[in-house]
Amino acid sequence: MKRLKVMTIFGTRPEAIKMAPLVKQLQETEEIESILCVTAQHREMLDMVLDLFQLKPNYDLNIMQHGQTISDITVKVLKGLESILQEVKPDIVLVHGDTTTTFIGALAAFYQQIAVGHVEAGLRSGNIYSPYPEEMNRKLTGTLTSLHFAPTEGNYKNLIQEGIKEKNIFITGNTVIDALLQVVKKDYIFDNHLLNQIDYINKKVIVMTCHRRENWGEPMENIFQAIVEVVKKHRNAEVVFPVHLNPKIRSLAEKVMGGVEAIHLIEPLDYEPFANLLNRAHLILTDSGGIQEEAPALGKPILVLRTETERPEAVEAGTVKVVGVEKDIIIKEVDKLLLNSEHYLQMANAVNPYGDGMASKRIVTALKYYFGYIHTKPNNFKIESIEN
Ligand code: UD1
Ligand code: UDP
Repeated sequence: MKRLKVMTIFGTRPEAIKMAPLVKQLQETEEIESILCVTAQHREMLDMVLDLFQLKPNYDLNIMQHGQTISDITVKVLKGLESILQEVKPDIVLVHGDTTTTFIGALAAFYQQIAVGHVEAGLRSGNIYSPYPEEMNRKLTGTLTSLHFAPTEGNYKNLIQEGIKEKNIFITGNTVIDALLQVVKKDYIFDNHLLNQIDYINKKVIVMTCHRRENWGEPMENIFQAIVEVVKKHRNAEVVFPVHLNPKIRSLAEKVMGGVEAIHLIEPLDYEPFANLLNRAHLILTDSGGIQEEAPALGKPILVLRTETERPEAVEAGTVKVVGVEKDIIIKEVDKLLLNSEHYLQMANAVNPYGDGMASKRIVTALKYYFGYIHTKPNNFKIESIEN
């Protein structure tokens, strides 16, 4: 039987982190020829991940420009992928999640009548403007997809409700847990001097990230002001905020939080130190999608700086709380976690509703099954099957 030609397309940091274990698995599979194409919607933040996992793209569209708009990304990715897809003619294109690279990668494949496999399919917040434009990107990608790799049963149900056929969905767990398990180590030593010096035992270290488009402007300013208040009130709190490279976010972070002694605004970290920083944190404040999946696995309480989430599983498990973007509410919720140890311990439960480290293997097995290389379906990921 001829080898299955699988082209993986991604472009941003989170896609790279979550696709790296899968690309490795594809490369190790005899029946598969794996081709990697990056759009480089992100540049430095993408390259950090490619280096860590030693991935060498076969194609690199190198599209990033500073201050790019969603339309800029759309046009460049769509046009850039056209000739590559015509040249390579893969049997299937794999895309991940909800970025503009994801949706346009799927659209470009559709225009060449190439099947699409969507990794991390079926997450829904129910509001097309939050997260924006990710909720719509994910829905549109789903419409263009033949094979849906849903991380959880809830994601599977969302797809069924939208009329996707059961035979086209595989419940795999989230590949982010595959990646996380590879990099988090108990005795990890940071290269970064500051991160090695922080007193993680006697200080209450808050790790923070914030970058979402729907938070740009006033909501983000509220969030940053809340953090300044928090460190003023709690002398034992110390904040580490690796700031996204988007200039809009950097300038606001510097304006509101620059010079505050207990707040460390640092450059984005490589995935390995970042994941290990999460593992040392007391609590996490974030509007990121991926961090909402990683922190519960590490038993860290997270306050989500958004008005809704497409990842309800860890909220149901009690480790994640969606607190919105109002200054006073954020301060109140952080106060509760810093002052009420019973409340803290209730949230600091290691739960792992998102994966067991086997998602990439399940996805490759599903591909082999779907294309007739094997006759046994992969087992579904089940939350009960995890031991913490
Ligand atoms: C993108 C995704 C978002 C994802 C996020 C992960 C879209 C529309 N948005 O948002 O879903 O959650 O990535 O981080 O797909 N920049 C650099 N170097 C980098 C990366 C970014 O300088 O390595 C700067 C550039 O000035 C760039 C800007 O950040 O123009 C914004 O990047 P962009 O990909 O457009 O948006 P993100 O906010 O990163
Ligand atoms: N991350 C990282 N370095 C950082 C901040 C985040 O490696 O300085 C990782 C984080 O662990 C998670 C992913 O990047 O796996 C999240 O990316 P981001 O917040 O950019 O995007 P989102 O998850 O919101 O799409």
